Amino acid sequence: MILNVEFLKKKEHFELRCFSCQQKYNIDEYGKFYYCAKCGSLLEIHRVSNYSSGTGKKRHGVWRYIDLIPVWDEKNIVSLSEGWTNLVECRNVARILGLRSLYVKFEGLNPTGSFKDRGMTVGVSKAVEQGYKSTMCASTGNTSASLAAYSSRAAIRCIVLIPKGKIALGKIAQAIAYGAEIFQVEGNFDDALKIAGEICERDNRILLLNSLNPFRIEGQKTVAFEIVEQLGRVPEYVVLPVGNGGNISAAWKGFNELLEDGVDIIGAHASKMLPKMMAVQAEGSAPIARAFKAGKRDSIDPVMDPHTEASAINIGSPVSWMKAMSAIYDSGGRADYVSDEEIFVAQKLLASKEGLFVEPASAAPIAYLTKLARAGKSDEYDGVKNSTVVSICTGNGLKDPNALMKGIAPDQLKTISADARSLQEILA
Ligand code: F0G
Repeated sequence: MILNVEFLKKKEHFELRCFSCQQKYNIDEYGKFYYCAKCGSLLEIHRVSNYSSGTGKKRHGVWRYIDLIPVWDEKNIVSLSEGWTNLVECRNVARILGLRSLYVKFEGLNPTGSFKDRGMTVGVSKAVEQGYKSTMCASTGNTSASLAAYSSRAAIRCIVLIPKGKIALGKIAQAIAYGAEIFQVEGNFDDALKIAGEICERDNRILLLNSLNPFRIEGQKTVAFEIVEQLGRVPEYVVLPVGNGGNISAAWKGFNELLEDGVDIIGAHASKMLPKMMAVQAEGSAPIARAFKAGKRDSIDPVMDPHTEASAINIGSPVSWMKAMSAIYDSGGRADYVSDEEIFVAQKLLASKEGLFVEPASAAPIAYLTKLARAGKSDEYDGVKNSTVVSICTGNGLKDPNALMKGIAPDQLKTISADARSLQEILA
């Protein structure tokens, strides 16, 4: 890696540290190791001081926040104009659920249809900067689609491992179209991630780009900056679906950076508050929610045979659980789970009342809010009812039409003969 003086200046403002014991590592060597050598925890990027180049003003989306993102040379940026997704006020659903104010941050509007693009634009840019020629991930679908797209743009080899028969057709189609080398693992996501981890630890020429990669988190944290810019304030609650726990920790990191340096980040004072982070999992794959409900913070019991139709979050052994727990507990938030049935009801509610078609996993936060509203009076419901709630809806419904079509009754798709009269009769 050849760096000029300006890039070295930027580098001084960032450190790579262990999330748990704070042991420092050489930030440019990430990829030669993935965990803390001292305690085995995940690593995290830490901003030691503010850096200002001012070049973000000329950019769009995620890269508007370039000064907060640890990529040294702008020439290495691999972008598809990700970020600045719509924040949509949902008055109809809010009314139905008895909420004062509900917004959906529709991450399905990103270039490959999910929030993963925020992380991949940074992760793959960093891969280019570090000279990697191959990337790898295990995926329930969206990560593989996103990594494949950004890798193709960077002319880097991309290898993806997916659990056989357990990912949405649209997502496999994307990975194929973008030209990834795809391997279907006869097992679940957790098995696939274990294999990917072992391969990348043995072969330092391949960079692992699952959400344990802290550069991905640096991209994903920008969702918090955007929410505050678009809303004009920090919401009281942020509700999001949780699988591995990467995204909730990224959003939480973003809100914390705003609290520390609001003026520098979004050009205005963000109010001196943090949102409560509400983690929602699917009932059949809910190790974080179950641990939270049992009052645990320092350990979880992995689910050995996870199952949910919301395939994106069908994860039994979340690699970022420790970071997720810290987001939930430190924010004064909560974790809960919802059934698949509740998820599909919420998916249809959001689509039919607001015109927002999100994938099943992304409807989990709405399912959780519906569950609270149904149960009626509780501290939890009283809290969200009188607040501003932002639901991060992580992926586009078009990726997984089969999941929706399974629940369609035959009479919802009526056939008519090719003349207007037969339709007229039905409509009358
Ligand atoms: N929502 C969607 C649509 C997802 O694809 C994922 C994760 C999540 C939520 C959960 O995010 O893992 O950061 O807690 N999908 C990964 C994948 C695992 O491979 O696409 P998390």
